[in-house]
Amino acid sequence: MIRLINVDKTFHIPASSSPDGKARLVHAVKNVSLSIEDGNIFGVIGFSGAGKSTLVRCINLLERPDRGQVLVDGEDLMKLPERALRRERKKTGMIFQHFNLFRSRTVGDNAAFSLKYTGMKKESIHGRVKELLDLVGLADKEHAYPSQLSGGQKQRVGIARALASNPRVLLCDEATSALDPQTTRSILSLLRELNRKLGITIVIITHEMQVIKSICSHAAVMDRGEIVEQGPVFDIFSNPQKGITRDFAAATSHLYKIYDLLEEMSPVIRLKPGQILAHFSYCGRNTVDALISTASVRFDVRLNIIFGDLDIIQNTPIGGLIIIMEGKEAALEQTLQWFAARGVKTEILRRSENERNEP
Ligand SMILES: Nc1ncnc2c1ncn2[C@@H]1O[C@H](COP(=O)(O)OP(=O)(O)OP(=O)(O)O)[C@@H](O)[C@H]1O
Ligand SMILES: [Mg+2]
Repeated sequence: MIRLINVDKTFHIPASSSPDGKARLVHAVKNVSLSIEDGNIFGVIGFSGAGKSTLVRCINLLERPDRGQVLVDGEDLMKLPERALRRERKKTGMIFQHFNLFRSRTVGDNAAFSLKYTGMKKESIHGRVKELLDLVGLADKEHAYPSQLSGGQKQRVGIARALASNPRVLLCDEATSALDPQTTRSILSLLRELNRKLGITIVIITHEMQVIKSICSHAAVMDRGEIVEQGPVFDIFSNPQKGITRDFAAATSHLYKIYDLLEEMSPVIRLKPGQILAHFSYCGRNTVDALISTASVRFDVRLNIIFGDLDIIQNTPIGGLIIIMEGKEAALEQTLQWFAARGVKTEILRRSENERNEP
């Protein structure tokens, strides 16, 4: 549905608006290639200034790349004359962090905005608006004004407006960043429902990995203008390749607390002689507890779960456990190997110093 090939975008900052009074160039998007399949929910994550908004604005040519190809639904947008481009743009709707609604217009008029100059009859527009508001759960708000709505309701109006011309693609630029966690969930579940019902392809920009985790099927990680990693969301969480991806993935888990505990020498993880502190991680299996009880009997070891983090991503269990293992040295080694052979990754975080308690 969407293909970007070697897309590049540089901004020229004139001396007059540069903080240090010197003209400069900002290379916002660097040679980005990516492809998004029809019907996917695709996430783009990155820190502030990474170039996410610029990239997504290149998809509908709100920002014209300096170089590269932009194909949407098979059409090479960079080659189209202005009129044809306007027509093609209707295939792409967009929603924003701050909703960008007209404050002096009713919810119905906001939703109808893009239909006004299409030659569509008033009654048909009204029918379509009713349909749209129904779709986003605002059937009773047609005559309300934006100031009378909550943030979540405003974003629903934004979504209705974006869907008015039946686009094939919906671009969401930080669409939930101004919302509280509960409202965020309700907007994300609306997006998921629209994706299923209408088959619309959705591109979501965010700096929150939780958003990616909860609804995206695929994602790309952006860093300083470049896509540094992309693929199915499950792979990104279960086997991140780049440091920045690992950091984003870790931010949605509380397992990273273990490193603070280690640093603080917390009593929770104080080891007695013969004990090992280990991190077990696994995915695609929901029977780790059975493995733990089997291993403890089989190798005569004790496995004490200190804390854990279990999740389901794309219908597959994924998790990590912090475990204190206790037993004879050889038995502990055998246990670790036995787990590894069963697809559970193990990492020893600390061993006790033999024959004496740790401080
Ligand atoms: N119209 C513009 N003129 C000049 N520079 C721009 C323009 N738009 C973006 N930039 C610069 O390009 C870089 C990427 O900006 P962009 O808004 O795409 O980042 P982002 O990842 O969306 O950040 P955020 O998470 O804060 O929204 C930044 O350095 C920004 O200052
Ligand atoms: Mg942005």
